[in-house]
Amino acid sequence: MSVDLSLRALLGDSSLPQNEARILLAFVLEKHYQLPRSALLSRDDMTLHPAALDEWLDLESRRIAGEPIAYLVGIKGFHAIELQVAPGVLIPRPETELLVDIALEEIERLHGNAHILDLGTGSGSIALALAHAAPQALLIATDQSTEALAIAKLNAQKLKLADRVQFRQGDWYEALDTHEQFDVILSNPPYIRSLDPHLSQGDLRFEPSSALTDFGNGLSCLEIIISGVDPYLKAGGFIAVEHGFDQSSAVVQFMKNVGFKDIQVHLDLAGHKRSVSGRK
Ligand SMILES: C[S@@+](CC[C@H](N)C(=O)[O-])C[C@H]1O[C@@H](n2cnc3c(N)ncnc32)[C@H](O)[C@@H]1O
Repeated sequence: MSVDLSLRALLGDSSLPQNEARILLAFVLEKHYQLPRSALLSRDDMTLHPAALDEWLDLESRRIAGEPIAYLVGIKGFHAIELQVAPGVLIPRPETELLVDIALEEIERLHGNAHILDLGTGSGSIALALAHAAPQALLIATDQSTEALAIAKLNAQKLKLADRVQFRQGDWYEALDTHEQFDVILSNPPYIRSLDPHLSQGDLRFEPSSALTDFGNGLSCLEIIISGVDPYLKAGGFIAVEHGFDQSSAVVQFMKNVGFKDIQVHLDLAGHKRSVSGRK
């Protein structure tokens, strides 16, 4: 009796949720046959050649073991761009698009001509989404991780944004020259407290811990960034940071401590407090 190895059978027999199985099988079809995702339906009786079949089986078992889909396919959509991602860099989250939208409002207020800093850029997500959406903006993006910066630079080149986004390595503001000042400073720093059980669950198990946690109470990076921001912001400059769902009041207090005005709490689409902004 011959085994049915058609696309239809591979999907039907997979123990993965169907949407995940479809993403991974579409990835294999694109990579090995340059076929679009629609081939999952239009050519569902097709069988894979051995190398493609092996890749499907490998991806399927790694996903069953918990590896994030974005790492398996190497791509994640964020705001209006697509980013390459790999273990060693945080997978950009939809919540962080809120920070991009908050920044875009400020950039519009500045008629597009803004000098922007993204602290802890990871894959380059925030800086590159802004560079894409605001063609006159100039950006500096920092990270302390060599691996993250290598991926961020690759993303900048692929998106043809490398002429407007500079990358620097270092511990928060130490990556900058002392005289540098910005109109807008943004950060989505590590803010999960070290004992949070989520760190050992789901996708987070596969992401770099230095991108997720401050190895303390969750607030230390936010405090360092806000308490140290003054010399790097122009007069009237704007800062916005992402934080955890229960950290809003602490972050508001950090902004008050540096004497910032117009402090605003921003809600994500689910109605959770996820970002705070303030003005020098
Ligand atoms: C939560 S991730 C955010 C990545 C990206 N901005 C995003 O939103 O997808 C935090 C980033 O901060 C970086 N980071 C952690 N500690 C840092 C430090 N002391 N100085 C600079 N970057 C740091 C991590 O390497 C990581 O890339």
